[in-house]
Amino acid sequence: MVSYKELGLVNTREMFKKAVAGGYAIPAFNFNTMEQMQAIVQAAVETKSPVIMQVSKGARAYANGTILRYMAQGAVEYAKELGCPNPQIVLHLDHGDSFELCKECIDNGFSSVMFDGSALPYEENIAITKKVVEYAHKYDVTVEAELGVLAGVEDEVSSAVSHYTRPEEVEDFSKRSGCDSLAISIGTSHGAYKFTPEQCTRDPKTGKLVPPPLAFNILHEIEKRIPGFPIVLHGSSSVPQDEVDTINKYGGKLPDAVGIPEEQLREASKSAVCKINIDSDSRLAMTAAIRKYLAENPSHFDPRQYLKPARENMKKMYIHKIVDVLGSNDKL
Ligand code: G3H
Ligand code: 13P
Ligand code: ZN
Repeated sequence: MVSYKELGLVNTREMFKKAVAGGYAIPAFNFNTMEQMQAIVQAAVETKSPVIMQVSKGARAYANGTILRYMAQGAVEYAKELGCPNPQIVLHLDHGDSFELCKECIDNGFSSVMFDGSALPYEENIAITKKVVEYAHKYDVTVEAELGVLAGVEDEVSSAVSHYTRPEEVEDFSKRSGCDSLAISIGTSHGAYKFTPEQCTRDPKTGKLVPPPLAFNILHEIEKRIPGFPIVLHGSSSVPQDEVDTINKYGGKLPDAVGIPEEQLREASKSAVCKINIDSDSRLAMTAAIRKYLAENPSHFDPRQYLKPARENMKKMYIHKIVDVLGSNDKL
């Protein structure tokens, strides 16, 4: 058993309390590689922001769970080395799909886990979430649950359709499951293609797709029913069009990729939404920088040469999210 406390990590409890009261959201950035980890830590330290570093099942399969845990431990030490004496870093399991996986992560240094039972029947979702909560709370690990189904297809996380969270269920669900935070479905979705062109309108000037707005009425109804309860938004990448354009310019093919407009995430951050998940924007920032670098420097083959601008570009994006969208800067 490795306790996250020995690694210098923290759980989400205090962080979320402060974020809900302060009207901002904590960034939850997925990481799979050392460069992502470094960029996340540099951005969090420079902006004095708490941060959630999250690991999906796909990340564990790619990078190995043990390595990722040591990377999170390294992230804490790296933050200190960069001049942050008390970093607030959470190591979170993203979309855990079984009690066993959640337990394994809790036993190996994670400070927070998600049990995603959103595709299960309601009672089964409650029962497994509750079992995870009972185990996690013994070790002061916090648990995120999910109610409602996000649309989108992204590796391990897939659902063809979206079912908005039913506000009338959230009170019963949060009470009976004992979860510490609740991911809801109000129109966000995973990946770089969050909406089909048919679901969007087109900006007549740019020709770019304009997505339908998030269901803020549902969010506000949920807030009324469980006041102050920490709410999480998955699938919240904005799919920056300049990165998409760079990728397409240098040989990529991402037609009509579209995300959640940042002003809507800014608005959500002021509510009980206190954790916002971003993965695809990091992938886009990395890929755009690498494609551009290699196209402009065809004779280079040292990975450090193209991973450096990729890391810089991700860091710039993380800082932008923290300062201009979520408002979690200057909170340490
Ligand atoms: O919510 C999903 C995250 O973007 C993780 O994606 O399963 O491809 O690692 P992944
Ligand atoms: P994006 O695909 O919008 O970045 O969502 C990531 C996510 O929700 C991770 O759980
Ligand atoms: Zn997600």
